[in-house]
Amino acid sequence: MIVQQLASTVWDANLYLKFADARMRPALDLMGRLDPANGRRPGHAIYDLGCGAGNISRVLAERFTESRVIGIDSSDEMLAKARMQTPDKRVTFAKGDLAAFKPEAPPSVLYSNAAYQWLPDHIDLFPGLMRRLPSGGQLAIQMPRNHDAPSHALMHKAAEAGPWRDKLAGIGGIARVHEPARYYDTLKPLSSELEVWETIYQQALTGKDPVAQYTASTGLRPFLEALDPSERTAFYETYARMTAEAYPTRADGITLFPFRRLFIVARRA
Ligand SMILES: C[S@@+](CC[C@H](N)C(=O)[O-])C[C@H]1O[C@@H](n2cnc3c(N)ncnc32)[C@H](O)[C@@H]1O
Repeated sequence: MIVQQLASTVWDANLYLKFADARMRPALDLMGRLDPANGRRPGHAIYDLGCGAGNISRVLAERFTESRVIGIDSSDEMLAKARMQTPDKRVTFAKGDLAAFKPEAPPSVLYSNAAYQWLPDHIDLFPGLMRRLPSGGQLAIQMPRNHDAPSHALMHKAAEAGPWRDKLAGIGGIARVHEPARYYDTLKPLSSELEVWETIYQQALTGKDPVAQYTASTGLRPFLEALDPSERTAFYETYARMTAEAYPTRADGITLFPFRRLFIVARRA
């Protein structure tokens, strides 16, 4: 089953959604810091940057009932799913690359959950995003910062542990997310209020190879995509064995997967 799912070389919307609950919590924690007044600016829109299947875009629309919500993503598969699952006409989706994002309507909020870590040099884009906001508007970004965890180190260890070694040499996975203070220093000159914080979530996963399945839809993808189907299966199984040892299943069937995330909420001066 997992091997069939991994055969997709595009964003696998189904695999990603399997963990929607565990991933929804940080999205809501970020949303909790948004100012309701930013949902009541006539002619403005709340943007969900890297919206994926639109799960969070729909929650933004429920919470900010007077605002348009526009989801942007580069994946046709994710956008198709988002459109199919979103009957609310206040929520629209458009294809776009976050590296070259230009809003079609003036933004009151630029919100992004778990997307900018895919862009190298994403920090250089953030001042430009701030400048697109009106005074009082908010930039709200959440990114995983878990690259020091065993789940990430084991990707590289598994990459070196088989005949696929040469094909996987040099694959970096997700771009490094910097120290929190670096984002603070970058955004402070443009902000009237600025919060930067980290939370480590003790994610409670269930099922077979839960940590490997979790990362298969995110950080492990560049490794899987570099291999042909038979090698992909063997590589995945090697990685799954390693993660099962590092993250043992508890007596109640739960596997705890500690996961660090960085949050940034900046209000435009
Ligand atoms: C981990 S998903 C997060 C989806 C959604 N924000 C959520 O929290 O459910 C990351 C999303 O970022 C999108 N993405 C990655 N790089 C992108 C880029 N350069 N431009 C636009 N979208 C991008 C992917 O297509 C994917 O849908």
